[in-house]
Amino acid sequence: MKRRDFITAVAASAGSAYAAMKALDVLEQPATAQQPPSPKGPFQLQRRGNRKRVIILGAGLAGMAAAYELGKVGYECVILEARSRAGGRCWTLRGGDKLTEITGTTQTVQFDRGLYFNPGPARIPYHHVTIDYCKELGVELEVIVNLSRQQYIYQENAGPLSGQKVHVREAVTDIRGYISELLAKSINQNALNASLTTEDKERLIEFLRTYGGLDPDLFYKGSSRRGYAVPQGAGLQPGEVDDPYDLSALLQLGFAGNEAFEWGFDQQMTMFQPVGGMDQIAKAFERRVGNLINYEAVVKEIRKLSDGVGIIYTDKSGSQRRIRGDYCICTIPLSVLKDIPSDFSPDMKAAIASVSYAVTGKSALQFNRRFWEEDENIFGGISWTNQDINQIWYPSNDYFTRKGVVLGYYNFGSVAANVGALSPEARIALALEQGSKIHPQYKNHFENGLSLFWSNIPYSLGGWASYTTDVRAQYYPRLNEPDGNIYLAGEHLSYLTGWMAGALESARLVTAKINALA
Ligand code: ALA
Repeated sequence: MKRRDFITAVAASAGSAYAAMKALDVLEQPATAQQPPSPKGPFQLQRRGNRKRVIILGAGLAGMAAAYELGKVGYECVILEARSRAGGRCWTLRGGDKLTEITGTTQTVQFDRGLYFNPGPARIPYHHVTIDYCKELGVELEVIVNLSRQQYIYQENAGPLSGQKVHVREAVTDIRGYISELLAKSINQNALNASLTTEDKERLIEFLRTYGGLDPDLFYKGSSRRGYAVPQGAGLQPGEVDDPYDLSALLQLGFAGNEAFEWGFDQQMTMFQPVGGMDQIAKAFERRVGNLINYEAVVKEIRKLSDGVGIIYTDKSGSQRRIRGDYCICTIPLSVLKDIPSDFSPDMKAAIASVSYAVTGKSALQFNRRFWEEDENIFGGISWTNQDINQIWYPSNDYFTRKGVVLGYYNFGSVAANVGALSPEARIALALEQGSKIHPQYKNHFENGLSLFWSNIPYSLGGWASYTTDVRAQYYPRLNEPDGNIYLAGEHLSYLTGWMAGALESARLVTAKINALA
C-alpha cells in the first residue's frame, strides 16, 4: 500500500472527519527549497518605508500584522475592513453579541457575563509565531488542555463497545498493550523477517514489555494505567483494576484517528489560549493599528493603476469611495475575493478560484453547573464521538467555578454541511441530543447556546484554505507572486493553513517583499 493510500485508509476507518482532513494536509508535499523561508523569530523590516502608501484589505490578523510591521518603519498604511470589528476569524463571542449568517439568521448570544466562546481559532501550538506576537503585544496566555486522558470515546454502530463511554486512558492503554504483546510474540517466534540483530530483538522485547505494560510472559492482562475500577486509598484499599477491553471490540471501536490526533506536530501539548478569549490578540493589534482601520468598508473593485493600486469600496454610510496606494496587501479570503471585480491577471484569477475552503461548524453550550468537573473529573480536553457532533471540548479556564461554556460540536465536511443547513435552534437541539448520550447531565443544566457554520459567515465564507496537492502544485506558486503591486496575504498564503500563525507569517513575508522593493 502506498503511504498516501495508507493514510487515507487509516483516516477513513477512524471515522474521524478531522483525521481525514489532517490526512489531506499530510498528502501535501513539504515546502521545497525554492520556497522563501518562513519569517520566524525576531522580526524587523530593514529599510524605511519612505512614506509609501499601502492599502491593506482586511483587518484580520494578517492585515493588522502587516500594518503593524510596516508602520514601525514609516509606511503610511490604510486598512479597509468590511466588518464593524477587527480580527476576522480571530473572534470571541460574549453575551449580547450578534451572530448573523448569510442565510439571514441572527443569533444573540445569551452567555452570562464573564463567559465566552472562541468560534474560530481556539488553540495555539507552543511553536507558533503567534506566541511571539502575544509576548510582544502583551497578551496574557494560559494553557489550553488539548488532551486529557479522562475524557471519553463514544462511538455508535462500532461493535460491542457501541454506546459505551470508554475513557481514552482505557482504550489507549489496552490497544498499546495488545499491540506490544502481539509484536513481542512475533519477535519471539521469529515471525518478523525484519533485519534485527539478536541483541536488538531482545532490546525491542524489553521496550515492549515496558511500553505495553506486559507481564513477565509478555501477555497484556490490563494495567493500572487504564485507571481503577475501585480506587486506591488509605488503609486496606489496594484498589482494583478492571480487565482490559477485548482487542476485537477495541478494533471495532475505530478510534485510531482520535488517538493519533494528539501526535500531530500542531496539536501536541503544550498548547495555549489567551486569557479572556482569543480576540485579545485581535484587540492587542487593534490597539497598535486601530487608527488606520476604516470599519464597514466593503471592497467593491480592485484596480491596477499605472502608478499603483486603486480600490473602490463603500463606506459606513453606503457611499462609494475610491482610494489609491502605491501597494496593496489583500488579505481577503479567496472564498470572498474570487467574486470581487478586479484587474487581476487571468492566471491569478484562475489561482484564486482554484482553492477550496474547509467546511466546518462549531457550537457552544452554556451550562449552569460544571458537571464534567464535579461529576466526572474532566478538566479541559476533548471527548470524541462518531456522531455528527464529532467532539466536545471542555473549558480550560475558570476551573472550579459554577457555570461554564462547553464546545457542543466541531465538525467538518459533509457532516458540517448537513448540520450547518439546519436552523441555529435545530443545531443546538442536535448538539444537546447527541451530547447528552455522553453527558446525561446536559438536559438538566443547559441554559443557552449558539452555533455557527463558517461557510455562512459573511466575509469569511469558509473555515480556512484547504489545499489539495494538485492545487498547491498548480496554483499556489502564482498566489505567492504579486500581481502588479498587489500582494496576497493571509493563512491561505502559507503551509500553516487554518492557523493564526499562517496569517502572521504571511504578513511578515509580504511586508518584507514590499520593503525590499520600496
Ligand atoms: N487549526 C484548527 C484547529 O486546530 C483547524 O482546529
